[in-house]
Amino acid sequence: MAEREAWGTRLGFILAAVGSAVGLGNIWQFPFKTATNGGAAFVFVYLLAALLIGLPAILGEFVVGRRAEINAVEAFKRLGRPAWTVVGALGLFIGMWILSYYSVVGGWVIRYIVGSATGAYFDGAGTYFNAVSAGWDAVAFHALFMGLTAVIVAFGIEEGIERATKLMVPSIVVILVGLAVYAFTLDGAGPAYGFYLSPDFGYLSNNLGEVVPFAVSQAFFSLSLGMGAMITYASYLSEDDSLPADGGLIVVLNTAVGLLAGLVVVPLLFVQFGDVPETAAAGGPGALFVSVAQAFTDLGVAGRALGVVFFLVVLIAALSSAISLLEVVTAYFVDNYGYAREKVAFAFAGGLFAVGTLSALDTAWLTWFDTLAYQVLLPVSVLLGVVFVGWVYGPEAVDEIKRGTGGGETFAMAWLWSVRTFVLLGVFATLYLGVTSIYSAPAIPLV
Ligand code: PFF
Repeated sequence: MAEREAWGTRLGFILAAVGSAVGLGNIWQFPFKTATNGGAAFVFVYLLAALLIGLPAILGEFVVGRRAEINAVEAFKRLGRPAWTVVGALGLFIGMWILSYYSVVGGWVIRYIVGSATGAYFDGAGTYFNAVSAGWDAVAFHALFMGLTAVIVAFGIEEGIERATKLMVPSIVVILVGLAVYAFTLDGAGPAYGFYLSPDFGYLSNNLGEVVPFAVSQAFFSLSLGMGAMITYASYLSEDDSLPADGGLIVVLNTAVGLLAGLVVVPLLFVQFGDVPETAAAGGPGALFVSVAQAFTDLGVAGRALGVVFFLVVLIAALSSAISLLEVVTAYFVDNYGYAREKVAFAFAGGLFAVGTLSALDTAWLTWFDTLAYQVLLPVSVLLGVVFVGWVYGPEAVDEIKRGTGGGETFAMAWLWSVRTFVLLGVFATLYLGVTSIYSAPAIPLV
């Protein structure tokens, strides 16, 4: 069989992983949740969640991937624990599940790039969104997004994913910085910064029980955990880098992009509405496709240009995430059955396109898929992964964490014990709350 592919450089891996992490979760969810959950106080909780729970969990996935050097399903067999293959299979399943509807949202984004250029939603973004978010048009744009994803994956690790994300991730940062600077110069943006970032610890302490689990599940989704993506990406690492250093950088960059996105969208909303409107504060599709889009409509021609650039950056972020999910299943079939990468990528893109058609035709399906993924499937998968690296694979996992760090014994042991104890508890609590809230007040996480 042909030699397995690998990243060309360490930076290539880091950017691809950041590309997977930075997605709609950052640009769409994070700013609104920050603005309405205590501002900088929420950022503080999120950072703690990302560093104390997200980072150990992502390191766990890196350990499995790099050690096994094979796709997420096969990895557990290769590590000598075949019974745990179910965890890899679950991740692969969840990845496909999420990609099926994420692509529909990606399609909306493409639609809005066009709509910004032509001014199609300038008479009322709400009405426009209702008209285009579901139906055969949405199916067509969903096909386009899925097709683009498949093309990149078909080109392979170094030629496709690494090359694309090396361009995409820096573009996301540069464009967002540019947009943030532009937003800063607009009249009426001033109060936005106080609203967005002033720490409201009072709010936080009154709502700790809700804010903490929310921050934890946001960290899972945002770091692409539990979907097999980070296992798969780490499996293409051939060099002996320090996993903790890479993981830390990925977590920090991912959070930074979320914050930066807030410095774009919150001022834009203030310019138009003098506030963050209800539709945006609730997160959901209303946030980007109605409120933010509406904010462009007052700015005339500049608004059109701004809309094109803004939705372009959202598209890049969404695409660099989507390729990581299609890669999970592609890696499995390429590794295990030796099928041609292009064939697998296009076959699965086609199949998932078909599944996603449900969501494209009726957003109730989209919400259903998303809620189940966010509140049940992801926490279950992360929980099993954490139990595996902590309690089943512990000592060997410690060896792998230490590899490439030049010592690192203390860190590795601290990592192991964190995974075995409070990370596990934190993930369990998040799962419990996710499941119970489905019955009470379903939070609609992404859409
Ligand atoms: N980390 C991604 C995000 O924040 O959007 C999560 C993700 C979703 C990754 C969907 C990949 C994907 F296709």
